Amino acid sequence: MNMYDLITRKKRGGALTNEEISALIAGYVAGKIPDYQMSALLMAIYFRGMTTAETAALTQAMAASGDRIDLSAIPGKKIDKHSTGGVGDKTTLIVSPIVAACGCCAPKMSGRGLGHTGGTIDKLESIPGFRTDLSAEEFCAIVRTCGLSLIGQAGTLARADKLLYALRDVTATVDSIPLIASSIMSKKLACGADAVLLDVKVGSGAFMKTPEDAYALAETMVAISQEANFPTAALITRMDEPLGCAVGNSLEVAEAVSVLRGTGPDDLRTVALSLAAEMLHLAGMGTRAACRARAAQAIADGTAFDALVRMTAAQGGDTAVLLDPARFPQARASRTVCAPTSGCLAHLDAETVGRAAVLLGAGRAAKGDAIDHAAGILLRRKCGGHITAGEPLATLYAADETLLDAGAERFSSAIEITDAPPPPSPLIYGTVDAEGRHDG
Ligand code: URA
Repeated sequence: MNMYDLITRKKRGGALTNEEISALIAGYVAGKIPDYQMSALLMAIYFRGMTTAETAALTQAMAASGDRIDLSAIPGKKIDKHSTGGVGDKTTLIVSPIVAACGCCAPKMSGRGLGHTGGTIDKLESIPGFRTDLSAEEFCAIVRTCGLSLIGQAGTLARADKLLYALRDVTATVDSIPLIASSIMSKKLACGADAVLLDVKVGSGAFMKTPEDAYALAETMVAISQEANFPTAALITRMDEPLGCAVGNSLEVAEAVSVLRGTGPDDLRTVALSLAAEMLHLAGMGTRAACRARAAQAIADGTAFDALVRMTAAQGGDTAVLLDPARFPQARASRTVCAPTSGCLAHLDAETVGRAAVLLGAGRAAKGDAIDHAAGILLRRKCGGHITAGEPLATLYAADETLLDAGAERFSSAIEITDAPPPPSPLIYGTVDAEGRHDG
């Protein structure tokens, strides 16, 4: 294999063979291909794209570049979930316990916050004592006893993705559909579940800004998983404003608990129930409607909340904060941001709200930064309704007034108030599975 020839062929729009893709991933992980040649190839892929066959081969080669978790000894269907990332997206904390309460297993490896988007691992670590760095053996044992376990990404899984992601991050090649699709699906294949449900976010707070791009990403991931014989479906969900009202780690855990206890914001409950129903459907537990009813029942009878509490205890977390979220450590300072004028709250830009939460201390400005788990934003109003000047829109939480100044300034720039209401956009655009697209 000659890297110069591969870069040239891709630059001219040609395709790489399976053997070439396997060799280049193996060579890169072994340190035999320098970053400058891999960067050039990534940029050629960014502009020229990849065929489904190439993307599938890249996914398989990346999945094979590290360890794979073997969950086959655990009885029952194991269904994984992945969100492409958003603001206020705490659905995993709701959906995984629901799926476990309905008799399936929900093993999941999650990530930390990235840029303006939050990460499930940071949220879970706001629960005092919660361990996300379990060994593969501990992970399997907790899935077996609790029906779910949520852990951080082991560096030994899909090693090529870890290396390539870091390179893409600094070469402006992250937002490429074949590269995102292969990155996500290689990790999912390595995790050992029987099937995966993808939550592809679309909107101002998501990687995919338009429904066309979100569908294209979902269709690519479903197509490559068919080649790998790995049942996969995707929901396309809105991420123009934050999901729910809480943005920030312990605030989001508390909000997830409220949904599991039968209250909480409507949009969050609707998306979570749709995701849970789709996961149960993928597990072969009945029609979408029957699975949705079953998921709702697991909330109503308290079994989903119990599953979260059991898993938290098994992973060393203090369950007292779940039973009474007021016991979470509280931020030292808070400030309310009010509506500057009257009108319709047309837009609360999700990416800007996410960036405001980072400024408050809820996320990292640089790799390795510490997180303030109590920091964040609680929205008092969601988009679409009429607001009056001076009405509270959100409460911001941080460790001190300086952080609140920065966060409040950024948060205020997310607010758009208009005379007329904006055209409605769907919360759930549709589903993509092996049969194609389905509406709503
Ligand atoms: N999430 C991933 O895991 N990989 C990407 O490339 C983008 C989002």
